[in-house]
Amino acid sequence: MSEPYFQALFAERIGGSAYGKGTEIYKFEKIKRAKRQVLADHPERMLIDFGIGENDGMAPENVRRRMAEEIGRPENRGYADNGIAEFKAAAARFMQRFFGVTLDPVTEVNHCIGGKPALAMIPACFIDPGDVTLMTVPGYPVAGTHTRYYGGEVHRLPLLRENGFLPDLDGIPADVKRRAKLLVLNYPNSPTGVVATVEFYERVIDFARTHQVVVVQDAIHAALTFQGEPLSFLAVPGGRDVGIEIHSMSKGFDMIGWRLGWFCGHPRIVQALADVKDNSDSGQFIAIQKAAITALDDPSIPVRTRDKYRRRLEKLVAMLRRCGFTCEMPGGTYFLYAPAPRGTADGRRFENAEAASQYLIHEHSIVTVPWDDAGPHLRFSVTYEAADERAEDGLMAATEERLRAIRPVF
Ligand SMILES: Cc1ncc(COP(=O)(O)O)c(C=O)c1O
Repeated sequence: MSEPYFQALFAERIGGSAYGKGTEIYKFEKIKRAKRQVLADHPERMLIDFGIGENDGMAPENVRRRMAEEIGRPENRGYADNGIAEFKAAAARFMQRFFGVTLDPVTEVNHCIGGKPALAMIPACFIDPGDVTLMTVPGYPVAGTHTRYYGGEVHRLPLLRENGFLPDLDGIPADVKRRAKLLVLNYPNSPTGVVATVEFYERVIDFARTHQVVVVQDAIHAALTFQGEPLSFLAVPGGRDVGIEIHSMSKGFDMIGWRLGWFCGHPRIVQALADVKDNSDSGQFIAIQKAAITALDDPSIPVRTRDKYRRRLEKLVAMLRRCGFTCEMPGGTYFLYAPAPRGTADGRRFENAEAASQYLIHEHSIVTVPWDDAGPHLRFSVTYEAADERAEDGLMAATEERLRAIRPVF
């Protein structure tokens, strides 16, 4: 078949004329294929899926009810542009109640269609060719992808166990610091599960001022904080002078598919991101914004979500430890990040976390997500489907039986 004429037209940023011809299979696609394969090969074996990074629960009943009401109101039908004032006010109320952060909802808050688009758009505000975005790895890559789209560079800051999974800002080379414009952080951190401290944020603020970089703190998992009180970067003195924080209805409110979040912080940065957003989308459906107000004003929702995932993580940590894994209860998120086994007692060796993960799926129908960016680790998510606590316990028991039989070696 001859090539379409536009094969030569694809932009270099997505691969140029080679676009669509690569044979490399990305990690998540590899996992999907392995899952399909093992379900076909072993229909008798229950698939135990710790690979899903999405809430298993539906949005709360009162939120769905509000949505049902709002969907029928004609005043909600149109473009929402940069968002309705009532949602911004509700987000500001939540920031006050949850983190003790006072914001002007008019100038310091703006809605977005989830955290992902906000992270995709922030480089448009700051990155010119040759500029640098500092990003922690392993992590959520979206801001880095768009940095490269604009001709910028990504400097990776590895999150290592020996540094408490906090980036080593002092170790950044002088030339990189000079060209850096953005520092993208994510606490509670995915996938390591670590939460930030006030002292760490103070160091970040000092770094931002000294080297004149803008801080983008991805707080998507903030409601899922188990260690200490939830902490906003904006609650630390000076934070709001150097950056913004991105929040979402996805994780803490079980509204992952509804696509709604907000960014807040320094009014000039909020304005710039809102301007780019206004040139990219026309806002989230107003009925969704109004349903989200019900969620934000109901303090019981994030507590319920947090308690469920904490309970599941505690069971998972205890079970994995009994099977030889070295792991502790994470400070936040619904992920557990544990060193990957290097092999099994019967002599099998894994060259990296990806090999260990593939073995667990193919041979034992246990799905995990491998990370090899900063030492081989497996990510276990507790967003599996289980109807009640008995079902959770049953799943833990089944996993334990399989892992004990494998006898992993570390
Ligand atoms: C670290 C991190 N940031 C951002 C997002 C995107 O969240 P949202 O659903 O708000 O777009 C995710 C989603 O999984 C995430 O894990």
